[in-house]
Amino acid sequence: MNGERGAWAGRLGFILAAAGSAVGLGNLWKFPYLAYKAGGEAEWHGAGAFVFVYLLAVALVCIPVMIAEIMIGRRGRRNPVGAFRVLRPGSKWPLVGYLGVLTGSLILAYYSVVAGWTVEYIYKAAIAEFSRYEVEVTDEEVRRRVCEEAKVKPETKDCDRKYEEFLSSHKDPEDLARALKEKRLEIYPDRLFHAFLASPVKQVGFLFVFMAITAAIVLGGVSSGIERWSRILMPLLYVMLLGLVVRVATLPGGLKALDSLFVPDFSRLDLDLLLLALGQAFFSLSLGMGAMLTYGSYLSPKERISSSAFAIAGLDTLVALMAAFVIFGAISSYGLSIRGAGIGNLFTAVPVIFLHMPGGTFLTIVFYVLAAFAALTSTVSLLEVASAYLIDEHRISRPRAVILAASVIFALGVPCALSFNLLSDFKVLGLTCFDIFDYTTSNLALPAGGILISLFAGWMLRREEQIEELFEVPGWAVSLWRFSVRFVAPLAIFAVLVGLLLGRVVG
Ligand code: TRP
Repeated sequence: MNGERGAWAGRLGFILAAAGSAVGLGNLWKFPYLAYKAGGEAEWHGAGAFVFVYLLAVALVCIPVMIAEIMIGRRGRRNPVGAFRVLRPGSKWPLVGYLGVLTGSLILAYYSVVAGWTVEYIYKAAIAEFSRYEVEVTDEEVRRRVCEEAKVKPETKDCDRKYEEFLSSHKDPEDLARALKEKRLEIYPDRLFHAFLASPVKQVGFLFVFMAITAAIVLGGVSSGIERWSRILMPLLYVMLLGLVVRVATLPGGLKALDSLFVPDFSRLDLDLLLLALGQAFFSLSLGMGAMLTYGSYLSPKERISSSAFAIAGLDTLVALMAAFVIFGAISSYGLSIRGAGIGNLFTAVPVIFLHMPGGTFLTIVFYVLAAFAALTSTVSLLEVASAYLIDEHRISRPRAVILAASVIFALGVPCALSFNLLSDFKVLGLTCFDIFDYTTSNLALPAGGILISLFAGWMLRREEQIEELFEVPGWAVSLWRFSVRFVAPLAIFAVLVGLLLGRVVG
């Protein structure tokens, strides 16, 4: 065996590192956002159906697939390419590994751009930039906004009239002040975000910073780099999130969020919702490209895969639910709405939500530090896949492998970072580089990889091999898992793949 290969110092370290991979921007931003949309925006209870299906998807499809990934990694004791090669020499299966390494690199390239934004936003929060909306937004901008919403051109007399109507519709001066504040709050974070996106230097700079921090951790190796940092960052993340949960739970009306998240209204259930929830669960648990496989390859044969997978999925789901509670609670307490779509929500809607609360500036700092930590443990796992591939398959030392992988991926990230400014007009099929990386990985490569990984573990590994890896569970449970990875998971993921391709499932 290759002497360069590391190993986890302990099972808890493995669980925290894998949970760190899973817990990311997907949990803090995408899960609350999708639940909110699935709930029909302001309507309560709709989100409950999404959450319910999500939990089922995690239990019935994702946990079996995660067990499959970790199992393949631990049996192969290598990166995704090497693991398939060692387990089925001479077959085409290593192609699944190559697909994984490529997919991971593409995800890392665009994901790091967004991760970089969290760093800038920690700074913005720390200098209380968001709270400057009162002085920064002019009355003229408020007027324009009011007219835009009423779909009247700003230069016209009609607009003047609309604005007058708006002002006079709030008789009470306090009421008017609140309405004006709302408008300023809608305008300002949006403006800050777009100004930030428009700067090529900042976009590439923060990408570089985030990539460099990621590389520094991965350079440290498996136990003294990834594991050590996960042991520090993950508990901190939980403490901060718990703090936010307590804060929101004590807001008047904050607990109403529990109703909307946990009381399902099954009339909202349809095929789109099913596919959306499954696709999100899959992405959130970092499945389908060999990240869990690679982390599994450093796991001792003595440790239990099954309970580890449950713990990882449980920690990830808990973060998603807590984040949704924080966002929903603040929204319901203050009667807000999250407008607009896309990743930008994390950077435009979140400051608005927190600015409504006493101590909002501090809470915003906490939130972005949280987001940066969550993103960092995910980028680390992605860089580790490409690095492990170079270390195992090309016999390169860890430092060289990490620097090489990080440099190539940084280069891939540059066009993604420029997608919002210099290259914003450079589009293929209407998609910028950033969109293409996101679309092809999330919608095509991850589901395809997930199907192949399940099929490999279910059909290619012999029953004795499966039982040896799952030594801790009774025979009926092995059979249940086997049934899931042979039939249930591949079919369910196939449905998501088709749904995504037909454009039905829109994130
Ligand atoms: N799970 C991460 C999140 O929720 C992102 C992610 C998706 C990922 N696929 C991955 C991370 C594969 C590592 C490996 O944000």
